[in-house]
Amino acid sequence: MKMTRRPRRNRKNSIIRSMVQETDVSVSKLIYPLFLMDGVKKKEEINSMPGIFRYSIDHILAEIETCCKLNLKSFILFPAVEEQLKNSDATYSYDPSNFYLRAIREIKQKFPEVVIVTDVAMDPYNSDGHDGLVKNGKILNDETLPILGKMAMAQAESGADIVGPSDMMDGRIGYLRECLDEAGFAETGIMSYTAKYASNFYGPFRDALESAPKYGDKKTYQMDYANSREALIEAELDIYEGADFLMVKPALAYLDIIQSLKQNFDIPIVAYNVSGEYSMVKAAAEKGWLNGEKTMIEILYSIKRAGADIIISYFAKEFAQIAESR
Ligand code: PBG
Repeated sequence: MKMTRRPRRNRKNSIIRSMVQETDVSVSKLIYPLFLMDGVKKKEEINSMPGIFRYSIDHILAEIETCCKLNLKSFILFPAVEEQLKNSDATYSYDPSNFYLRAIREIKQKFPEVVIVTDVAMDPYNSDGHDGLVKNGKILNDETLPILGKMAMAQAESGADIVGPSDMMDGRIGYLRECLDEAGFAETGIMSYTAKYASNFYGPFRDALESAPKYGDKKTYQMDYANSREALIEAELDIYEGADFLMVKPALAYLDIIQSLKQNFDIPIVAYNVSGEYSMVKAAAEKGWLNGEKTMIEILYSIKRAGADIIISYFAKEFAQIAESR
């Protein structure tokens, strides 16, 4: 058999394999989502997300300390707000005494070096469960922007490093940039949920926050999963309006979108490996149908290989623990 090219030669042993390995996942490129709740000494596991909890502020500080020891130092925070504090204009979202803003202040005071990314959207605080202001069943765009602006400024004021608009209203990046700059927060970054699809993979997250829309769906603002070119339009606008990061969400079923943004734009690309993607692996692993740990690592590498510079993942802590023990 005469064969000049034998790709298997470069797979001969583990040292050669690691020499030719093209992609790496490192803990410094991971962001760990944390769910916050009001109160003290509270830690509740989320039913559909084994290993992921809602924490009160005291517990969140302890959790962040544990993560820091694993070199995991970037976090994205989401609030689980009690139903009676929600209203149609999400006023609790920028009330300076709310537990989310208090948590940011306490975290930054105790761990000034950690990076805190926030969530800017109305849904956790909105009695309608939508990301924008609802009137007569319609999600209003321009009327939502000032609420998002107040939310982002309150978060920046509390010490957030990066605000993360996940609402998908048109023009919000430019609007937030202007609000932040005018209020003296020119150093606060914006991580835009650029291509956020109306996805079924958000189910477990909505359980975690009890934030599912009370009626209708999110298809008039989140993107249609049948579309990819539309992501380029969103990305162009976000860059023009001043975003510091472009995000694709979800990640695993959207690797083509990650690759396309990476090829077309020069700012860091973030992929959000969302709740449903986490729960699927956990559920299959619990049944013994998949090796959970190996599958998790493969998924993170795949997202990286597609072109993500940074990955937001519920697996971040587990990955950091494995990385440390190796
Ligand atoms: C909403 C928001 C969602 C997620 C992050 N921010 C869900 C939604 O749009 O309903 C989902 C994250 C996940 O599933 O892990 N502003």
